[in-house]
Amino acid sequence: MVDLDSQLDAFFAQDPAVLADPYPLYAQLRAQGPTYRYENGPATLVTSHAHVREAMSGSLPISNNGWRHGEHAEGVLARLPRHQLTLAIEVLDFESTFVSRRDGADHLRLRRIASRAFTARRMEALRDSVQSRTDALLDDLATSEAPDVKTQVADRLPLAVICDTIGVPETDRHMIWRWAIAISEHFSLTESSLPNAVDAIGEFREYVVRMIDRLRDTGEGPDLAMQLLAGGDREGLTDEELVAMYLLLIFGGTETTTNLLGSGFLNLHTGRRQWREVVESPELVRPAVEEMLRYDPSVHFLPRVATDDLVLGGRAVRAGESLLTMIGAANRDEMVFEDPETFDIHRSNASAHLSFAMGPHFCLGAALARIEGEIVFSSLARRFPDIELASADVHYKGSSMQRMITSLPVTLSTRNPAA
Ligand code: HEM
Repeated sequence: MVDLDSQLDAFFAQDPAVLADPYPLYAQLRAQGPTYRYENGPATLVTSHAHVREAMSGSLPISNNGWRHGEHAEGVLARLPRHQLTLAIEVLDFESTFVSRRDGADHLRLRRIASRAFTARRMEALRDSVQSRTDALLDDLATSEAPDVKTQVADRLPLAVICDTIGVPETDRHMIWRWAIAISEHFSLTESSLPNAVDAIGEFREYVVRMIDRLRDTGEGPDLAMQLLAGGDREGLTDEELVAMYLLLIFGGTETTTNLLGSGFLNLHTGRRQWREVVESPELVRPAVEEMLRYDPSVHFLPRVATDDLVLGGRAVRAGESLLTMIGAANRDEMVFEDPETFDIHRSNASAHLSFAMGPHFCLGAALARIEGEIVFSSLARRFPDIELASADVHYKGSSMQRMITSLPVTLSTRNPAA
């Protein structure tokens, strides 16, 4: 058997064979204990559900900005060619202004603004617009010569929804998509991905500054956008912080939800029995979405860094040591989930997953992502009950952190396309 460190080397180097199914590796890691010291990272991987929870809970001296600080971040930067280093630092410094990478009082201040905008009531009010966006995409799918659930639905809906909520005009959305892709691809750290990300961040920043000026000048825009703006003014947000907030919403709210829809569709259709159940009993869509989130989460790990010496899972962790909270491994922990490697829409405790994190940084868009999932799968079940995957050949884009399927060609056999 290949040793764990070699498998982890392949995982972090984005080896397609490991990315196709990282779960056997996670099971081996869990079998070692709740944490695993990976010297080549270097980082300590946290793999048990209880200890990922503890690391995320806010009760230990752990910073959320493990992207920029700590031994793992330093290791990644040290391995970059010199000419890429300045660019990487520029991207990481900009991203350090994200609410998701701040700590303590600083984090609370930004979180307060965003959470006043993302209330449950406001999310529920988005249901109708999510439904009409979904209907339009399914109309296109129905008439497409080569229907593809990933590229024609999953890629498009979350971007349309978030652009609607923060006031990006229809005509500008192709640019937002291009920038979002360029920024998300910088994680792969290829020769071209960093310069592209820096350019995209620069263009995006200018765009958002103009958009904010327009919203301020006219005093008109979607409710959520205006609420964010008012909150930003009240709390004295700098322009840079406001730009970062919009960027995080677009970036954190699109690719993640896209991947929930893509992987969710794949898992629901593998074997097809559970798809038939959802078609026959639409009330099963909600628990099915929860199981999709557990079984194959969009975000597989998050880097954190110890800000003081601490003990986690019986292991002494020094200040400055990186902790990778392995959500993908925790979601299949047999101590919490019975028969965890099975996708089961009837699982009673699926919502114990950690796919939206937990604690102070719990995802602010979780309600919206769930609404999008429920609407897409119930609409697909109603309109295309006989939809089937056209190919068993599934490919993932190169990222060990995010689960990104490239395409999902389908056959529709529309019995009642106008329903
Ligand atoms: C399936 C879809 C989604 C997944 C799996 C997901 C996952 C996550 C995770 C794991 C975090 C914690 C990040 C960390 O602690 O470093 C997070 C935070 C966040 N998410 Fe989501 N997210 C999703 C959808 C959304 C949507 C639709 C939005 C907005 C419209 C959104 C906005 C945010 C924000 C603002 C934070 C930062 C919260 C904070 O740090 O206090 N997310 N999300």
